[in-house]
Amino acid sequence: MKIQSGDVLAFDVYGTLIDIHALTPALSMLVGSKAAQLSQIWRQKQLEYAFRRGLMGAFVPFSTVTGQALDYALKVTGENISADERDNLLERYRTLDAFIDARPAMQALSADGVECHAFSNGDPEDIESLLRSQGLWGAMHGAVSVLPAQTFKPAPAAYEHFCKTVDAKADRCWIVSSNPFDVMGAMNAGWRSIWVQRNPEDVFDPWGVEPTLTIQSLSDLPEYL
Ligand code: LAC
Repeated sequence: MKIQSGDVLAFDVYGTLIDIHALTPALSMLVGSKAAQLSQIWRQKQLEYAFRRGLMGAFVPFSTVTGQALDYALKVTGENISADERDNLLERYRTLDAFIDARPAMQALSADGVECHAFSNGDPEDIESLLRSQGLWGAMHGAVSVLPAQTFKPAPAAYEHFCKTVDAKADRCWIVSSNPFDVMGAMNAGWRSIWVQRNPEDVFDPWGVEPTLTIQSLSDLPEYL
């Protein structure tokens, strides 16, 4: 299957375009050898908190979710940082590094006239800050945050909000994501999907559905045009 003219690509941000573990060196300065563990727990809790808030109907902006997940990760690893250090980490979370394949791939797709949007659980201003800081903003037609829908991916309402915002039918939309929960959420909403399996050991959830396409790097995307 190939991406057809008139199709819309929705790029997940955290973990797909942007490296969520890019702050590990900065964490090392604060917590030493626990940095990688802390970064993993931080991300796991960030996702869990978003899922739980979605189920509970207790939405808060994703930046709040991220801050509370950091606090949890610090508690569970028994680490203490100052309020200034916490603020600094969360500020740096708004300009995390992109993966090395992101900019060339987005530029190639943009040059080919493919309609690409960022689509994230992140707050609108954080998505913009991340993409601008990494030179990805110019290659996007737009950026859609779930915030106006007051829920998080993978709730169907989040994907419906995207379709409504960009004025596209679900069957013309593709999710491009490294996050299996997002790939499955989009397919559940009637989209096609491209799973970016960045590492061979990344496992897709065995729920009996498969991504429409699986690629190892965003650099493989132009092959499917
Ligand atoms: C995003 C995160 C959750 O939506 O990956 O960008």
